[in-house]
Order: sequence, then C-alpha cells, then structure tokens
Amino acid sequence: MLTKETNELLTHVGPGTPMGDLLRRYWIPALLDWELPEPDCAPVRLRLLGEDLVAFRNTSGQIGILDEYCPHRLTSLWLGRNEENGLRCVYHGWKFDISGQCVDQMNEPKQFAEKIKAKSYSALELGGVIWVYMGPISEKPAAPNFEWTRAATHQRSVTKVVEECNWLQALEGGIDTSHAPILHRALKENPAQPGIPINDVFVQGEAPTLEVDETEYGYRYYGIRRLGSDEQYARGYHYVMPWTQLRPAGRGVSNQTHGHHWVPIDDERCIVWNWYYTWEERLVSDGEAGLKASGNGYGEDINVENGFTSVRNRSNWWEIDRSVQKTETFSGIRGINTQDRAIQEMMGTIVDRSKEHLGPADKAIIVARKLLADAVKTVQDGGNPPGADSSYYNLRAIDTVLPSDVNWRDHLLPEMNPGR
Ligand code: FES
Ligand SMILES: [Fe+2]
Repeated sequence: MLTKETNELLTHVGPGTPMGDLLRRYWIPALLDWELPEPDCAPVRLRLLGEDLVAFRNTSGQIGILDEYCPHRLTSLWLGRNEENGLRCVYHGWKFDISGQCVDQMNEPKQFAEKIKAKSYSALELGGVIWVYMGPISEKPAAPNFEWTRAATHQRSVTKVVEECNWLQALEGGIDTSHAPILHRALKENPAQPGIPINDVFVQGEAPTLEVDETEYGYRYYGIRRLGSDEQYARGYHYVMPWTQLRPAGRGVSNQTHGHHWVPIDDERCIVWNWYYTWEERLVSDGEAGLKASGNGYGEDINVENGFTSVRNRSNWWEIDRSVQKTETFSGIRGINTQDRAIQEMMGTIVDRSKEHLGPADKAIIVARKLLADAVKTVQDGGNPPGADSSYYNLRAIDTVLPSDVNWRDHLLPEMNPGR
C-alpha cells in the first residue's frame, strides 16, 4: 500500500507537480509519424502531461510542437492554416514557426511579431514515432535509443491506444507478471478469442517467484515458475524508467522483444504504446493483418479515427461475454490488451492505493513505485533521473524453459544484456 500523499505524488503529472517535473526529463512518445504524413499537412491536437498542444509538419518537413492556444486571444491553433513554414491562426492571422516565434500578424498595421513567442517543445522522429521533450532545454537527454527504435520498418510494429485511467495504474498492470496466465488465459483454442493457451508453459507453470535486480535504468525482473518436477519456466523482463517495459515474446519466439510505454495524457488518461520487433533480418509486421496474426489482438480494438480510443471500453463494459467466460477465455473479454485495460480502468481513474494488500508476487510494482519516488527526489535535488542516459540501449527480454536444477540467471542474463 501507499500513503495517500505518495499516491498523489506518483499520479499527478501536470506542470509544476513533482512527478510532472520528473516525467518532463524524458523524451515522450507522442504521435505515430504517419499522423503528420507530409509537409504542410493538417495539424494534430495532442495532450501530454496535462498540457494541450498542437503538432504540425512545416513546408521543410520539420515538426513543430506548440501550445495549442494562440498567444493572441487563445483560440486553438489546430484550426489554423499550415502554410509556408508556419502555422497561421485563422482568427486574426498570426503565424508561428516551429520554434513558436510569431512571424506575421495580419490584423496589425504596425506589427510587433518579434515580441510574441508561443510556448514550444522539441520534437524528433525515431522508430516511426514522433517524440517530444517538455523539460528544461539544458537537461535534454540524448535521443531515445531503444533497440526497437533502431529496427527497420519491416522489423517492427508500433501501435497506440488511449486508456481511461491514470498512467501509473496502466504501468503497474503491465509490469505485473503474476496476473498474465490467469487474466489472459484461453480455455480452448479459438483464434477469435485470443489468449494464452492452457497448454502453454506460462499457464502450466506454478505461481511465480519474483526477483528484481535494480539497475542504472530501473530494474531487471524475473518470474520463475516451477514446471512439473524437473523443469522451470523463467521469464526475464526489464523496467526502464519511467514508463517502459520490455517483455518476452513468449510461446517459443526467441528472436523478438515486445514492450510498452505508458504515457500520461493527463492525470486521468494515458496512451498505451504497444510495440514489438525482431533483431533478425526478417519481416515481423505487415500492418493490421500482422498484428492480428500475432494473436495479441493489438490492433483490432483500436478506433484510429476516433482518437485511438478503444472500441471495447467502459461504456460497453468492454463487451464482456459471460458465455465466452464460461467456455472460451478466463475473462470473457476479447483481446489481451483490452482485458488489461478493463481491469485497470475498472479500478477507477486513480486507484486509492492506501486500501490495497500487496504480496510477494507484487514485488515489481512495489520497487517501481520506490524508484519513481526516489527519482522525483533526485530531480528535486538537481540530479539526473535513471533511464535518461545510455544504460538501456541494448536490452532485450527473453523467456526459457530450463531444468529445475540449473541457475536461470546464468541463462537469461547474457541474452537480456547482449553486448555487455
Ligand atoms: S487568436 Fe490567434 S490570431 Fe487572434
Ligand atoms: Fe496483462
């Protein structure tokens, strides 16, 4: 459990909050690059860490990220015209370049554009994603450098979806390994109801023992499950501060790592980024078909036209089907990621962690909270937070079945930190 004060500290992310200050020290995955497909295309609204922003790609192809509201009289620049290397407000015609500098004022006979600057943030494109940095310029870290951001387009898949609860709830739901073979269990083989098959080692293994190794970037963690009398199933994950998980692909797939970022829109909503990639020269992704074929149901529940919201959501109770729950899947909800969202959203937008009862299976969650609270303090004291340096660059997540008498760490570690 947490005190109410710590719960508030970790969940409130707006400008000027301690956690908001910490999260602003990282590059934030913000948009898929195809949301701004070409120079001078339509601008896009986005909300990050409680701030309303507008993104545009100028005539030269560069990305601008500005405060959504025009500095003149505060209407939305999203209504604006994207023209000749600047975004022009349609109300009185003030125009802004990607740095936020006002460069023209159509309604003023004697212009004072050089005195007006909209709030702006840095952006870059990597791994098919537009990333935004909202912190102090002097503290800007190097560009994100996960192995998945270095993978070629055909070697990776990236999607995103809105989740209707606080970012920490979504993060904790994702890094929790003990729920996975329970909540996501498929009771029988049916491609229309994807889940972890009942004969999978993940389900066949006993309840896990969790181990957490703290690192420079966050921690490595492991779920170790006894598998019959002679074997063990070992899953190795990483948590990279502040919002990233790397997890094994599972089911005998040894050349991929999967993962998520859980990024706050504001205190009550977040974006779940879902990605996977291979480090081998092969195709992992062929769009929606590939996503569905992966069995994870990543793509099918995402309504891209409606702001990347979930088709199955709280308003329709995630379309839970009680007859499916009896015979097909443990949850009766279609899609692994939708199952996760249902569980996390049903806790309420910000769960009251002072009421919970945690056990040893929740160790990863407990340590993540501690590291986040410590990092808040580090930033307050003028230091650099973990995960903003190069220590996460080469991580991978893997799983394996081993004889029960061997040291699983010896087998997992070299592959989880290749090249180290
Ligand atoms: S409100 Fe934008 S130019 Fe007047
Ligand atoms: Fe899950």
